[in-house]
Amino acid sequence: MPKLAVNVYVTREIPQAGLDMLRDACERVEINSEDRVLSREELLTAVQGRDGVLCLLTDTVDAAVLDAAKGCRVFANYAVGHNNIDVPAATARGIAVTNTPGVLTDATADLTWALLFATARRIPEGDRYTRAGRFRGWSPMLLLGGDISGRTLGIIGAGRIGTAVALRSRGFRMRVLYFDRAQNEALEQAVGAERADLERLLRESDFVSVHVSLDESTRHLIGARELGLMKPTAYLVNTSRGPVVDENALVAALRQRRIAGAGLDVFENEPALAPGLAELDNVVIPPHLGSATIATRTRMATLAATNLVAALRGERPPNIVNPEVLA
Ligand code: DGY
Repeated sequence: MPKLAVNVYVTREIPQAGLDMLRDACERVEINSEDRVLSREELLTAVQGRDGVLCLLTDTVDAAVLDAAKGCRVFANYAVGHNNIDVPAATARGIAVTNTPGVLTDATADLTWALLFATARRIPEGDRYTRAGRFRGWSPMLLLGGDISGRTLGIIGAGRIGTAVALRSRGFRMRVLYFDRAQNEALEQAVGAERADLERLLRESDFVSVHVSLDESTRHLIGARELGLMKPTAYLVNTSRGPVVDENALVAALRQRRIAGAGLDVFENEPALAPGLAELDNVVIPPHLGSATIATRTRMATLAATNLVAALRGERPPNIVNPEVLA
């Protein structure tokens, strides 16, 4: 197929397979050659004169950026979450927005379980303890954690990733509660999950795992009040978006042992952490690694490239967020 006479920009290097697809399909592809997030000024300049932009969740694509990208037809996000893009503003300008759902579901669900285990069984704390030369032999009271098997798992947001996390609980004979706007019959049948309101889920769960997308209705969905409803022996895990949890309120709850612990892959103001968070022993904090496997990031790259090229060909991208622009 002849190359498209288009000018595409990629805001940061992504796996080669995605870049190769873009280079095969488009006459001009420019990539930010520095391995860092572009500054706002740099982004505003870099998007000018482009037909398509492949951007990341760390790029804030607001009305000003969309205006700077005058004539651009598509912003292809290299992420399933698209809260970094002002989608209504893109739609108003006739710009397509795409994302990468599905391909990162398993990797993110796996990481959620890794965090749940690491937090409840105090793995990072134990690792630090051993490395510091403090291990003097088995001890009856050393680093006791929380049980997982047979406990109650509360899933907040039973979409693709929340469902995948819940299904993984089968091996641990867990009771599953879920909170979602919609009933998830498949989940109910597969693991006997029970739909509950948020308050009941928080009160009854031993593990609360957050899987909602970020918008104004979910910002600080978990705050001081909600943390106060959780059992003092319960754990919170968040692999969705940081602002869904009020991080300052969480630090206070963890410090006062109002809940047992938390595993956070995402933070309210990434890469900054709420004051005091990193000093706490009862929290595990990887740096937003949910989708960070070689195969998953490669699939995200090829899917983002597929979406971008389809939009520039005038076809319907497989993962269009704002289909209204295609009408
Ligand atoms: C996403 O795709 O939204 C993830 O947060 C990336 O890991």
